[in-house]
Amino acid sequence: MERRGEEGRAGSGGEREGMHELVIEGRFVHPEGIFEAEVGVDEGRISAVRKQGLSGEKRVSAGAGCLIFPGFVDLHAHLREDESHEWSYKEDFLSGAKAAIHGGVTTVVDMPNTPRPATSAERVRAKKRLAEKARGYAEILFCGGVTEENLHSGEIERMREEVVAFKIYLCETTGGLYLPANALPKALLATRGKPVVFHCEDQELVLRGRRSEAATEVSAVRSVLSAALSLNANVRAEMKINIAHVSSEETVLALRTFRNHTDAPRVFCEVTPHHLFFSEKDAARNRMLRVNPPLRSERSRRMLLNALKRGEIDFIASDHAPHTAAEKAEGAAGVPNLDTFGSFVGWLILRGVSPCRIASACAAMPASFLSLKDRGRIEEGKRADFTILDLKRLRKISSEHLYTKCGWSPFEGCEFPSVRHTIVKGEVKSEYDDVLD
Ligand code: NCD
Ligand code: ZN
Ligand code: ZN
Repeated sequence: MERRGEEGRAGSGGEREGMHELVIEGRFVHPEGIFEAEVGVDEGRISAVRKQGLSGEKRVSAGAGCLIFPGFVDLHAHLREDESHEWSYKEDFLSGAKAAIHGGVTTVVDMPNTPRPATSAERVRAKKRLAEKARGYAEILFCGGVTEENLHSGEIERMREEVVAFKIYLCETTGGLYLPANALPKALLATRGKPVVFHCEDQELVLRGRRSEAATEVSAVRSVLSAALSLNANVRAEMKINIAHVSSEETVLALRTFRNHTDAPRVFCEVTPHHLFFSEKDAARNRMLRVNPPLRSERSRRMLLNALKRGEIDFIASDHAPHTAAEKAEGAAGVPNLDTFGSFVGWLILRGVSPCRIASACAAMPASFLSLKDRGRIEEGKRADFTILDLKRLRKISSEHLYTKCGWSPFEGCEFPSVRHTIVKGEVKSEYDDVLD
C-alpha cells in the first residue's frame, strides 16, 4: 500500500516512498505516547507512517501548539431524526453530522430514543436511509433500543446486524424508552456478543422524586452488575457493558469495587463534557443545564475529572441532546455537545488530562468497544480520520457559530482551544470554525 510505484508520481528528487495524495505532518498522539511524524494518506487510508521524507500532492502541516489525534469516535449522541421527522426541527442527520465535524468527531453513534424509536431492524434501516444525506461528514452508526416487546418477539436477534450496540434505559428520559430492571437477565442474554450501553437511573426512585440524588444512579448500576453476575460464566465472557454518562463519585467507587471482582464481565464507563465541567450549583442558576442524570456536587465533578486522568473512565462521550430554548424553558433534559466537543477536549488537556489519555478515551477505546477495527488509532491501513487540535488558538464559544439546529451551547462564552481540522477518510472537512463542503 505504501508505495505507488518505484519512482513515485513526483518523478523528482528521488522520493523513495512515492507521492501520496495527502501528507500530514506534526505531533501525532497515540495512547502510548506522542510522536513527531509524517503520515501519508491514499484512497482514504493511512498508507505510510514515517519520521520524515514523505511527499504528497497536498500537505497539512500542524505546527507549534497543535496535536493530531485519531478521529474522535463519539459513542453517544441523539441526532433526533426518524421517518416521522417530528423532531427534525431540533436536529437531523445532516445538521448533526456537520456539528460533529465542527467538533472534531468523525464517527458518531446515534441513540434510539426518537418518536419512532430504533427498536426493530426495519426502523434502524429506515434511519440509515435517512442518514445517507450526511455521507462525507461524520459517519453515523446506530444503537438499537431494547424493550420488553422486542425481547419477547425475538426482534433483538434481527436487529443485531443493523446496529453497533444496544441501549437499555433503566428509567424514562427523553422519548420514554424504558426497560424494567427485572428484565435485565433476559436482556443481557439476548444481546450477548454485542456491546450494551445503559442509562442508569432507578425508575422507582425517580418516580418517588429522588432523581437529584446520586443513589438513583448507583442503584441502577448495581441492578446491571448483579444481573450480569447472575448469568453463567460463558455468557459473562461474551458481555461488554458500558455505563453511560457516569455522574457521581459513588458510581465511580461502585465500578471500582466491581471491576476487582474476579468473575466480573467487562464493564466500561463514559463521562460527558457537562458532568466534567458543571456542578449542581450551575444547574440551580441556569435551567438550560438540566440533564439526565443531573449535574452533581462539585466533589463528584472533581472526582470524575481525576478518575478520567487516572484512566478509570474509559470514554468521553458527548450525550449530544439538542432541545430548543423553548423546550428547555419547559424542562426538557439534555444539552447539545457536538459542535464544542473537540474544543472541550482541548480544555481538558489544558486542565492536566494527558493527550495520550484523550487518544484513548476519545478514539482508541470507543473504537475497540464497538469492534471498529478500521479506526481509532494512527497506523498503516486504518482509515485516514484525524482530529487536529490547536491548543494555542482559543475560540470563544458562541451560539452564532454552531451547526446544531437547536442553536445554543451550554458553553456559551467559554474560551476553549480550537479544532484546527477534522479530516475524514483523507478529506479535510473543517478549518477552524468552518465546516467545508
Ligand atoms: C437525553 C435526550 O434528550 O435524548 N437527555 C439527557 O438529559 N441526557 C436522553 C438521555 O441520554 O438520557
Ligand atoms: Zn441517557
Ligand atoms: Zn443520551
